[in-house]
Amino acid sequence: TPVTEAAALKATRDLPDAQTVKEVRHYTDRLFSFKVTRPQSLRFRSGEFVMIGLMGDPDPKTGNQKPLLRAYSIASPAWDEELEFYSIKVPDGPLTSRLQHIQPGDQIILRPKPVGTLVHDALLPGKRIWFFATGTGFAPFASLLRDPQTYEDYDQVFITHTCREVGELTYGAELIESIRNDELLAELIGEGFADKIHYYPTTTREESPKMGRITDLMRSGEAFEDLGVPPLAPETDRAMICGNLAFNLELKEMLEEYGLEEGANSKPAHYVVEKAFLD
Ligand code: A2P
Repeated sequence: TPVTEAAALKATRDLPDAQTVKEVRHYTDRLFSFKVTRPQSLRFRSGEFVMIGLMGDPDPKTGNQKPLLRAYSIASPAWDEELEFYSIKVPDGPLTSRLQHIQPGDQIILRPKPVGTLVHDALLPGKRIWFFATGTGFAPFASLLRDPQTYEDYDQVFITHTCREVGELTYGAELIESIRNDELLAELIGEGFADKIHYYPTTTREESPKMGRITDLMRSGEAFEDLGVPPLAPETDRAMICGNLAFNLELKEMLEEYGLEEGANSKPAHYVVEKAFLD
């Protein structure tokens, strides 16, 4: 471990908000996930985010260290003992250039104040729920897809994930597979619950079974044809969006054209949006 990281990890250890890393998995040179201990008192709603990070470099003049924090969606469900996160690695990103080196036993800072708009409470009842993600924007849906309420509230659950390369789909694909085989969910919701999940992964810069941006595939009608449903409508469909900024804006505009209205905790409606973390 380079000197600065060792210093950052050491300084993090004695903080009141420190949590211990339990597990780390690397998917590509750009993506990894990790699990940390959960503060006993932390309650959150599936889809919410918290601030996490490490101590920054000491100030060259004063020697003081400040925490370097970023918003991270909690990828694990609300009932889980540990907290899971899914992250990009930005080579010169202030936080992720270091965070990518964490190992089990290390400590990170976690501010236990969950917030966010991608929550069931912000949506009116509907028949179908759509989760639209690009890249690490999959994280809040990893939580929501493991929440029994998602299957209690909706007849059909659509999860679309657009990434540049095939390897970037691994985290999501494995998660969907594990959910389909989840005995607890099957017990709670009924054996047929797995049939409610419609997973639609697409890539834009590497060959895969379904290529193209989800926005283009919806505009052409191809996505709806593949999935066997009509385009979204305010009477039946609810949606959550989480991806890069351009994607969020474009899809938001499309949903408005379908007649869906943006909801909030204080005023539930048809869809909600949140930006995926970028270092
Ligand atoms: P593309 O390769 O065509 O840019 P990133 O890693 O840059 O955040 O992008 C993640 C995925 O989101 C990429 O597949 C990218 O496609 C796609 N994407 C970027 N902008 C948009 C947009 N406005 N609408 C739909 N998909 C987008």
